Amino acid sequence: MIKIICVCGTRPNFMKIAPIMRVFEATGNFETLLVHTGQHYDENMSRLFFDDLGIPRPDINLEVGSASHAAQTGEIMKRFEPVVLDFKPDYVLVVGDVNSTIACGLVAVKLGVKLIHVEAGLRSFDWTMPEEINRILTDRISDLLFVTEQSGVDNLAKEGVDSDKVHLVGNVMIDTLMANRERAKKSDILSRLELKEKGYAAITLHRPSNVDDLDKFAEIITAFEEIQKEIKLVFPMHPRTRNNISGSELEKRIEAMSNFILLEPVGYLDFLCLMSNAALVMTDSGGIQEETTILGVPCMTLRENTERPVTITEGTNHLAHITTKDILKNYREIRDSGQDNAGGIPKFWDGKAAERIARTIARGVG
Ligand code: UD1
Ligand code: UDP
Repeated sequence: MIKIICVCGTRPNFMKIAPIMRVFEATGNFETLLVHTGQHYDENMSRLFFDDLGIPRPDINLEVGSASHAAQTGEIMKRFEPVVLDFKPDYVLVVGDVNSTIACGLVAVKLGVKLIHVEAGLRSFDWTMPEEINRILTDRISDLLFVTEQSGVDNLAKEGVDSDKVHLVGNVMIDTLMANRERAKKSDILSRLELKEKGYAAITLHRPSNVDDLDKFAEIITAFEEIQKEIKLVFPMHPRTRNNISGSELEKRIEAMSNFILLEPVGYLDFLCLMSNAALVMTDSGGIQEETTILGVPCMTLRENTERPVTITEGTNHLAHITTKDILKNYREIRDSGQDNAGGIPKFWDGKAAERIARTIARGVG
């Protein structure tokens, strides 16, 4: 048996860990310990996804909660170290690019435990993004690097990472999408919100670069004020964003829009149903750029860059600068092109990435 600790901590981690846990369980070759760091903890940012995706309850929840980068990262490390010492795993597996990823990765390698990084190699080349720092450092200390797209393989080669450690396996987030697409059709979110297929745009925003500086965020909201004159907007708002605007002028402007539905974050199946039926998705999320590519739904990413270039070259993604003018320009281009963006499907985004990961680990590679 291969002893392995699987780590998750934030909303996008749950979609990534779900198929990995399922495949590890199915092969019978793995003895797993699922550790939740508690970085995300609200019911609708955490537990809901375990229910929606049938992820086993975490064996351990470190309950670290919210804090500054240093305090959060340090606290996760402190609480994770005794878990590793006690379980004595062959591997620690981390996913994505959040603080939980680098914190648990560092603990593993310092204890001499081999580290596996799922979603390695992605680069925005923007060091102001906390995620870019987490990605680069995690990749540097990993023994096995599982990559979602060719750009990641190329980035790692340029950084001098030994190619024997690097495996292009596809995208576990797409495994989850494919496994749940049919189930999501049964969601009643459209009727609950009185939405028509292709009659609305779905929005998510939570990047510090967009929502921590309210002047910057106002550029985006001004664009939304215009767009909602033409099409209904639906915005399940991330708690970071909600907290930032609480009591502000911007919050009043959002509440004043008549064709705008503001929601708490919704569960995975509801959100997948919302995305699938949207005319357009506007987001700064990493995962949503990938999901819309597979769904063939146009995506406007409100960012200056993306670490997922295949979603532009093969998928449905468009980057917009964070100005009212550029957001409106992109909106009109997408609207007028009438595109349903039946883009290409990136290599190995076929629902079998977790199987490739399990097979590679079981072969004893790394
Ligand atoms: C984190 C990740 C980001 C990822 C995002 C996914 C880091 C550095 N950032 O950003 O890469 O895209 O998760 O959603 O790891 N909060 C709550 N309830 C919760 C969780 C958070 O109210 O359950 C609020 C708190 O005020 C907290 C803030 O959101 O301070 C930010 O949470 P945090 O986990 O630090 O970063 P995210 O913005 O969620
Ligand atoms: N998502 C969700 N409910 C929401 C918003 C997003 O289930 O209200 C899902 C989305 O489909 C994707 C994941 O959350 O699977 C993306 O997480 P997030 O945008 O928080 O993180 P990122 O991908 O940017 O790191």
